[in-house]
Amino acid sequence: MKEQLEALRAAALKEIADSDDLAALEAARVRFLGKKGEITAILKQMGGLSPEERPVMGQLANTVRAAVEEAIEEEQRKLKDKLKDLKLAAETVDVTMPGKKAAPGHRHPLSIVLDEVKDIFIGMGFSIATGPEIEWDYYNFEALNIPEGHPARDTQDTFYITEKMLLRTQTSPCQIRYMEGHKPPIRMIAPGRVFRSDPVDATHSPLFHQIEGLVVDKDITMADLKGNLLTLAKKLYGEDTEIRLRPHHFPFTEPSCEIDVSCFRCHGKGCSMCKNEGWIEILGAGMVHPKVLERGGIDPEVYSGYAFGLGVERLAMFRFAVDDMRLFYDNDLRFLNQF
Ligand code: PHE
Repeated sequence: MKEQLEALRAAALKEIADSDDLAALEAARVRFLGKKGEITAILKQMGGLSPEERPVMGQLANTVRAAVEEAIEEEQRKLKDKLKDLKLAAETVDVTMPGKKAAPGHRHPLSIVLDEVKDIFIGMGFSIATGPEIEWDYYNFEALNIPEGHPARDTQDTFYITEKMLLRTQTSPCQIRYMEGHKPPIRMIAPGRVFRSDPVDATHSPLFHQIEGLVVDKDITMADLKGNLLTLAKKLYGEDTEIRLRPHHFPFTEPSCEIDVSCFRCHGKGCSMCKNEGWIEILGAGMVHPKVLERGGIDPEVYSGYAFGLGVERLAMFRFAVDDMRLFYDNDLRFLNQF
């Protein structure tokens, strides 16, 4: 039995050392130490030995088993390390390889114009405000001096959500919200999306963008309005740009006007861009109605202000000579790549 054990030890150690991978090693373990393994089989024969032989053989058998077990563990560690090294080698990154060129996107023309307008007003000391797109009737109409039944409600084809809740048709509700939260002096612009149930065509979309402006302080006059918006026009369309104020009506401003800029292409002579007018309408404006100031918690006896609303799509169409508003929303790369 002694020779048998020694032979088994030698055979086992050799087979373990020869194992090239973990599967081969496991096969060796099963062959020698498994339930039906060769060493296990010998251990089972111990019972048949004489009482003198039994402890001697038992000890030897245990040593053999321990040696084989240790060899297996050792080999297992080696094989695992080898695997890890192989994996690491396969995963090395060649840092000298040239990178993949990322195709940069383009800023959307509406974002370009919006950013320009924001920069111009920030330069004049304005803050940027926002308001919700889902708005209460109160802010969109009521507080802006457009009570129920007012004809101005019909001119803005409103998407109603409930009787009292709607998709804002203009950014003007931001005026009220801002006045509720801020005391004069106020200088803010509020850009955002607005919604009207207009059918889509070259100059209409049910979703478009406006930039609201509001200035409230002591002694604000129409001259401040004109001065600031002339600055805007010159910065957007060039130093030789002129503006003209035409009387108009908005329920929330008094007096109200629409502001035209001289056509930057023909400089007033008339061309296809300005439909031979020489002028292009870019915004609505006026002195904030005293009732609107009151709704905003501001005393109209002490303060006055002006407000304006710019259409971003309109600005962008003239700025980039785009004749169809739908191009802004189609996401056609042939169009967008030009900016
Ligand atoms: N809210 C108006 C519109 O959508 C524009 C406007 C804003 C006019 C502020 C005057 C003052 O037509």
